[in-house]
Amino acid sequence: MNALRNLDTGNPVATTLSNIIQHTILGSISGFFSESTARQPKKVFIAGATGYIGKFVARELVARNYTVVSFARERSGIGGDASPEQTRRQLGDSEVRFGDVCDIDSLNKSGIRGERFDTVISCLTSRTGGIRDSWKIDYRANRNLLDAAIATGVKQFVLLSAICVQKPRLEFQRAKLKFEKELMDSGITYSIVRPTAFFKSLAGQVEALKNGKPYVMFGNGELTSCKPISEADLARFMADCLEDPSKQNEILPIGGPGKPLSAKAQGELLFELLGNTPKFRKIPLWIFDLIIPVLSMLSKLFPKLEDRAEFARIGLYYASESMLVLDPVTGLYDGAATPSYGNDTLREFYIRILKEGCAGQELGAHSIFH
Ligand SMILES: NC(=O)c1ccc[n+]([C@@H]2O[C@H](COP(=O)([O-])OP(=O)(O)OC[C@H]3O[C@@H](n4cnc5c(N)ncnc54)[C@H](OP(=O)(O)O)[C@@H]3O)[C@@H](O)[C@H]2O)c1
Repeated sequence: MNALRNLDTGNPVATTLSNIIQHTILGSISGFFSESTARQPKKVFIAGATGYIGKFVARELVARNYTVVSFARERSGIGGDASPEQTRRQLGDSEVRFGDVCDIDSLNKSGIRGERFDTVISCLTSRTGGIRDSWKIDYRANRNLLDAAIATGVKQFVLLSAICVQKPRLEFQRAKLKFEKELMDSGITYSIVRPTAFFKSLAGQVEALKNGKPYVMFGNGELTSCKPISEADLARFMADCLEDPSKQNEILPIGGPGKPLSAKAQGELLFELLGNTPKFRKIPLWIFDLIIPVLSMLSKLFPKLEDRAEFARIGLYYASESMLVLDPVTGLYDGAATPSYGNDTLREFYIRILKEGCAGQELGAHSIFH
């Protein structure tokens, strides 16, 4: 190319020829090279890609032509059921690397491997919601990811969090909030995605209702509402964060399409789709006033019970708090202020699982909302 650039000899014909070559042929060649550089797929590193949402995020990014590396445990999934081969199959065309995100050396050596990634995404969360595990995953493992990202010059971090951290009363919420704050203070470009309820969290009673059982709800079933969002829609929303500046350096509460649905409305929808007369069993909230103090006291004597007491507090939280944007002035939940995204509705989801069953919905022991 330098030889072509040196064609300008002072001779007008040669100069014209030189200009043509430089401005058209060389321009096209360099245009081709810069365009192909611009088209280089961005490299994304995902932790938590074996989770309910993480799988969809990994697949969505692959479909959008990003180069995706998923970092997973050797035994992944609920109860560590999935082998490395199964994990690879689940994560489609993303490259899967195995190691321990809780161990910074493993994360660096087996995960990041000194490579340059454009974006790190975390869909990590404790699988139990227990106190120690929440701090280990929702805080510490995320902190490891952020440290590794900063050390290797990553420019962007997308975090899957939860809308319930607006009113923190539980340890997993405190762990998430601590990490959110450190992420915002870190100087890296961040997107903190705080979804409302996932479809899986509203699927727990489907089998019981199919078998003629009543729908169980707290109080009159109108104490709480949410705007549920599907895995695929949430994954699209998260993928949008990579390129959409309006979703960067922001906390992003997000729900699915339509109006907020109370617990009772969810039950009514299921009965309508089953063609059965609605039958409700109302559980009073005061039941938690009995359970929580007893378990809390017992956990002081038997520390192994501390998670039991926390699970009871988690139960009370979801029985009494909505998964909607909280108005900081009125202290009330505001459905109209909760943004909607996507097209998948709870009605369509219920129709599908009533026909096909709940397989793939990962209804783990404590998978209610957290
Ligand atoms: N459920 C809801 O309705 C709801 C609503 C709003 C927000 N959220 C939030 O959404 C986020 C994701 O939820 P999800 O349901 O997709 O989570 P999930 O299915 O429970 O997945 C959790 C992910 O974290 C990984 N993980 C857990 N413990 C680990 C450990 N010790 N070492 C390495 N990896 C570990 C899991 O890996 P393995 O497969 O190896 O276990 C999995 O990839 C959470 O922050 C949650 O709070 C949930």
